Amino acid sequence: MTKGTNIDEATEVLLKEDKLYEPSKEVKKQANIKNYNEVVKKAEDDYEGFWAEAAEELEWYKKWDKVLDQSEKPFFKWFPGALTNIFHNALERHQKDKKDKVAFYWENEGGDSREITYGQLFDEVNKFAGVLKKLGVEKGDRISIYMPNIPETAVAMLTCAKLGAIHSVVYAGFSAQALSDRINDAEAKILVTVDGGKRRGKDILLKETVDKAMEIGCPSIKNVVVVKYSGVKIEIKERDLLYEDLMKEKIEIPETEKMEATEPLFVLYTSGTTSKPKGVIHAHGGYQVGISRTLKWVFDIKDDDVYWCTADPGWITGHSYIVYAPLILGATSIMYDGAPDYPEVDRLWQVVEKFKCTIFYTAPTLVRLMMKFGSEWPDKYKMDSLRLLGSVGEPINPEAWRWYYEHIGKNRCPIMDTWWQTETGAFMITPMPVLPLKAGSASKPFPGLQFEVVDRDGDVVPVGKGGFLVIKNPWPAMLTTLYNNPERYLDTYWKKIPDVYTTGDLATKDKDGYFWIQGRADDVLKIAGHRIGNAEIESALIAHESVVEAGVIGVPDEIRGEIAKAFVILKKDAKQTEGLQDELVKKVREVLGPVVVFKDIEYVEKLPKTRSGKIMRRVLRATELNQPLGDTSTLEE
Ligand code: WT7
Repeated sequence: MTKGTNIDEATEVLLKEDKLYEPSKEVKKQANIKNYNEVVKKAEDDYEGFWAEAAEELEWYKKWDKVLDQSEKPFFKWFPGALTNIFHNALERHQKDKKDKVAFYWENEGGDSREITYGQLFDEVNKFAGVLKKLGVEKGDRISIYMPNIPETAVAMLTCAKLGAIHSVVYAGFSAQALSDRINDAEAKILVTVDGGKRRGKDILLKETVDKAMEIGCPSIKNVVVVKYSGVKIEIKERDLLYEDLMKEKIEIPETEKMEATEPLFVLYTSGTTSKPKGVIHAHGGYQVGISRTLKWVFDIKDDDVYWCTADPGWITGHSYIVYAPLILGATSIMYDGAPDYPEVDRLWQVVEKFKCTIFYTAPTLVRLMMKFGSEWPDKYKMDSLRLLGSVGEPINPEAWRWYYEHIGKNRCPIMDTWWQTETGAFMITPMPVLPLKAGSASKPFPGLQFEVVDRDGDVVPVGKGGFLVIKNPWPAMLTTLYNNPERYLDTYWKKIPDVYTTGDLATKDKDGYFWIQGRADDVLKIAGHRIGNAEIESALIAHESVVEAGVIGVPDEIRGEIAKAFVILKKDAKQTEGLQDELVKKVREVLGPVVVFKDIEYVEKLPKTRSGKIMRRVLRATELNQPLGDTSTLEE
């Protein structure tokens, strides 16, 4: 797979993949959206009316004055004047008719399992809301959540929503340093965590990492609430409270906060091109409309579906499509905590068979891993319950797409390759079940969205040519701003190319209007679909006493799509011992966590730089991968 890191590298190679995979009669017959062109036309003719119709399917304490207010653009306001709460739509309103329906079938790699109904989840959230209220949590407060994929993570998130507090989920694969940075940026009052997790049978000491984060310093944290999960022994500090004890107390259930549609629901940190992550803000109103409409149409959710998104709640996919949207739609989901290939590489297919999973949504890196193990593993299981497949996180190469289609979907399940971002909140470029597919293309923009591929000046490039992927109109689930940093919101997304939203991706549009995403155009890595800034890794390396300077690039990896390679200038007196490489890798893991995977670290005397002193990662990359150097006029030497 080729990946362009700048516009000159965006290619036309993928356009050779021109075979159309038509949906079967069966798929067509049951699709929520049967006439694709009709909905596209409807959305184009009356964009606001189109989204208002989606909003009408939810409940509001007070309806909006306007669907979309553009007066302070690009700080767009969706459904201003409306009062709502996403918790109400996700749980409260289902108590009338879905109390006993299973919300989550939960299971972990060790085989522990639980079933949580809509009624139980509702009661748990109400109680925890009372607990947090007693601990002094008020509307607008920030609550950090550092947890694995367990129902209590959803409980913690939904509780914040109910109280109008802003949750900040930090992926449990992040280190103590990364956790404390994120807690401090958000000035969180409470941290909700667990004793520990398990991966491949080994204990992951999450509470210990939390203790380290607190030692680094998190002055805003008043209490740490600990859910007992793995059973590993932990130290209880003065600020620590046990979830199970708190939930036993007599609790008064607070009212659900009536939120302005534009008020924040959560902040989620994501990597950008500097070493400081960006706090993406999503609001209650537009977000709930965007995620529920897209899930309903793209994954065609029906009352008896068993839907499984294999993401982690620590990323946007988990927020939108494990927790909020499936609950809003009243769906039954599978929640799975563990490695996909432990204790054996058929773990996923066991789970599919066990719960009769109907919709399976995962990442290309996992498809490639399963492809490597071979189709004899899924072949052992009865997986005829499956009717739709999904992919997200990075481009899926045609070879992996076809394997997924043939061996998991048995040539009958369309693959919904959904392109979107933390910032977009919901699917943006995506097929729907009735749309003919091309292996490796995320297909077409969701109805009403105006995407273009442009050059540096914002001019549309011809069909079949690569360029920057931009969005020309606002959408309901869009980020409202960056936490405490509206300037960076403007600079990052709206100023690079005037008057459009810059996605940061490179893409090509083909003659049929299908989009082919070619990866990031900026300096952001995608390691197994996880987003990490090159600059973040560089600054972690520089934090090591032996390092003067570092340049980090992404290089292709068969399974993970991309991994990091570092070029490092050592201090004059630093010893190039054999253990130094390991030490540097360890340093990066200390600062950022195990999400960073290295190919290797190379010691160099010099790094290519511009006259103004910026490292030219593009040149490092071209040299490493034996590609043409491109424009080097700004290179100093
Ligand atoms: C970036 C956003 C969206 C949830 C998970 C990642 C890449 C995402 C696809 C896809 C090609 C994709 C893009 C995007 N990406 N989905 N279907 N095909 N590329 O969220 O961490 O905010 O990353 O992931 O490069 O910009 P994220």
